[in-house]
Amino acid sequence: MRPLYYEDGVLKLLDQTKLPAETVWHEYRTCEQVAEAIRNMIVRGAPAIGVTAAYGMVLGANAVETKDKNEFFAQIKQMAEVMKNTRPTAVNLFWAVDRIVKTAYENRNRSIEEIKSTILEEARRMDREDVENNRRIGEFGNRLIKSGNTILTHCNAGSLATCDYGTALGVIRAAHEAGKKVRVYADETRPYLQGARLTAYELMQDGIPVTLICDNMAGYFMQKGEIDCCIVGADRIAANGDTANKIGTYTIAVLAKEHNIPFYVAAPTSTIDFDIATGDEIVIEERDHREVTHIGNIRLAPEGVDVKNPAFDVTPNRYITAIITEKGILYPPFTESIKRLREE
Ligand code: MRU
Repeated sequence: MRPLYYEDGVLKLLDQTKLPAETVWHEYRTCEQVAEAIRNMIVRGAPAIGVTAAYGMVLGANAVETKDKNEFFAQIKQMAEVMKNTRPTAVNLFWAVDRIVKTAYENRNRSIEEIKSTILEEARRMDREDVENNRRIGEFGNRLIKSGNTILTHCNAGSLATCDYGTALGVIRAAHEAGKKVRVYADETRPYLQGARLTAYELMQDGIPVTLICDNMAGYFMQKGEIDCCIVGADRIAANGDTANKIGTYTIAVLAKEHNIPFYVAAPTSTIDFDIATGDEIVIEERDHREVTHIGNIRLAPEGVDVKNPAFDVTPNRYITAIITEKGILYPPFTESIKRLREE
């Protein structure tokens, strides 16, 4: 279930704001349109927005008609800024845009037409690598899962959040494919309901048993001994392992520690921001208050009420049992295991 396709100079995105009620695909032909789709969460999930931004850069570069290379590079830089100004938290977005800009510069001695094709190849490579990485994350993560396990997940870190297969849901898919009996408890994930709308939908499509719960029920089920482990995705992991993920993840991690339940983060190494020492440096996106006051077009809260809507929180490394990456499983102390990974 891929959420994005690039074909014949057009980017197609599955509208995740409409799922599961409607399956609608939109076509994008300009860099600005793609930036808007990322901002409006037509596409969402750290790896998916990274690859989408890369294709957005390709569309932007293709539209540049100049023969002047300085002008071409000036426009590439400007497009990179447009992309980077969409959503601040997921580092994959910045990583992907920088990778496209770097590829363009590395090929600066070639013709503008050749540079355009090399950046398209690079975007396609990132797309393929994302799926391969998710499969590897699945293989490693599967080792941590026992048949009979019930796994709690938060938000959607599945196919829809990546180029296919998923990170946290990739681990669950791998366990299911290996013949293990697993059941998922999916937090609904207020306010945007990625768990209720997307995770429940994805898992049901694959025939993986899923039970939808409200976010505030997680503690109840942990206390009753119904959860064996938690697996979530990540938007940015600091060099010490502190992890930004969907708002509510921190609460789950603290609850898991209280109940001695392993708490795993599954993410590709492109989600690790080696340049920041701790999670304190992660910028948390504040989204439209309407996401909290309304469900769809229905107002729930009184008009004029004060609202806060941080889209992510940071789970300190002490709550994380392991970080599952495509290069292997990282264990505490994360400052050391992440440093070793970087050196490798
Ligand atoms: O606001 P979203 O839906 O983009 O947030 C998504 C998440 O928090 C995911 O858990 C994270 O990006 C990992 S996706 C593999």
